[in-house]
Amino acid sequence: MKVTVVGAGSTYTPELVSGLAAQRSRLAVDELVLMDVDRGRLEVVGGFARRMLAHQGLATDVRLTTDRTDAVRDADAVLVQLRVGGQTARLADETFPLACGCVGQETTGAGGLAKALRTVPVVLDIAEEVRRIAKPDAWLIDFTNPVGIVTRALLDAGHRAIGLCNVAIGMQRWMADLLEVDPGRVEVDPVGLNHFSWMRRVLLDGEDVLPRLLDGRMDDLRTRLPFPEHLMRMLGALPSYYLQYYYLHDRTVAEQRRERPRAAVVADLETELLDLYRSPTLVEKPTQLEQRGGAFYSEAAVDLLASLYADEPTVHVINVRNDGLIPGLAADDVIETRCLVSRSGIEPLPQPDVPPVILGPIQHVSAYERIAAGAALSGDADDVRRALLAHPLIGQWDLVEQLLPGFER
Ligand code: G6P
Ligand code: MN
Repeated sequence: MKVTVVGAGSTYTPELVSGLAAQRSRLAVDELVLMDVDRGRLEVVGGFARRMLAHQGLATDVRLTTDRTDAVRDADAVLVQLRVGGQTARLADETFPLACGCVGQETTGAGGLAKALRTVPVVLDIAEEVRRIAKPDAWLIDFTNPVGIVTRALLDAGHRAIGLCNVAIGMQRWMADLLEVDPGRVEVDPVGLNHFSWMRRVLLDGEDVLPRLLDGRMDDLRTRLPFPEHLMRMLGALPSYYLQYYYLHDRTVAEQRRERPRAAVVADLETELLDLYRSPTLVEKPTQLEQRGGAFYSEAAVDLLASLYADEPTVHVINVRNDGLIPGLAADDVIETRCLVSRSGIEPLPQPDVPPVILGPIQHVSAYERIAAGAALSGDADDVRRALLAHPLIGQWDLVEQLLPGFER
């Protein structure tokens, strides 16, 4: 099997490589093509990937290339994990909304929209090439943010694509830790959109233990989720930590004004990681990588890939079309939900009724995402205004006008 990674110069790539090694019995990758536009980074990350695989005794042939056409040709699966404009563009996304009193975040609010506008056309262009010259049934797995909007654009254009994020698997591993059980016994059941979801059930051996956790383990839950007790108990759900940008918006803005932007922190971390990857003696992913937000990304991505080629279906939380699963959303809206995945297809699992306190915001952000995906295609300034007006964190005309110059870069 030929697997291609577009954006392989990312410091996350060793995550993926360790996932391939861990899943070797489920997924036989004989050719791994690492493609990036940045030759220097590709050499560093690719060299390290080769050492990691050799250390694990894997015979996978690793090819490094800056030629996307060559990378994609005849691939069975293409993973897209790029960041248009790098951390510099991210820094701008995180700072211009703050100047207007809005949250500065790379996937939420105005910053997320700016990222969507420059990213969607690039990913669609890659997808077109995948459709043209990869294997006819090749899958495109998108880890590129904002995953909800990018996946929507990919599916709208008829691509065989799945959007993936590590928030759910991160929650699942954390719940297993709290319960002190093997992660294989725990499933989480989020409802909502990418980076906008509520965990309504935590299943331990199939039984929902979330009410018990909300009752007896609130202090533990609050170590990683910044939400007030009352809020979580009242919802009967664990909001994803991205919900802090909504539920605690003004508080977060005040904090962000005091703190260093995440883009600056990550840029330093990347310099450090790349230095480590250069070391010929390093053969395993360094612990510093855990300081990035993408923990368990490798497990999620490689697991999903293995399931797409397996006979036996397994459950994954992925971004797919709603297709009637959540009444109140359009069939073509893209949601993040549990699905059974196997070589015979993707089957979303039923969701209990979604109460208005959760459904309302999901509908609101879905409408924004629809307009945002359209704006990324049209490039029309009024579509950008419409997206900002429809965003629950913006919505005011004066703010829209103040934010607009931030999109002109
Ligand atoms: C989480 C999200 C990813 C995001 C990452 C940011 O893992 O699910 O979508 O890219 O955080 O992490 P970073 O280390 O770049 O801030
Ligand atoms: Mn994510």
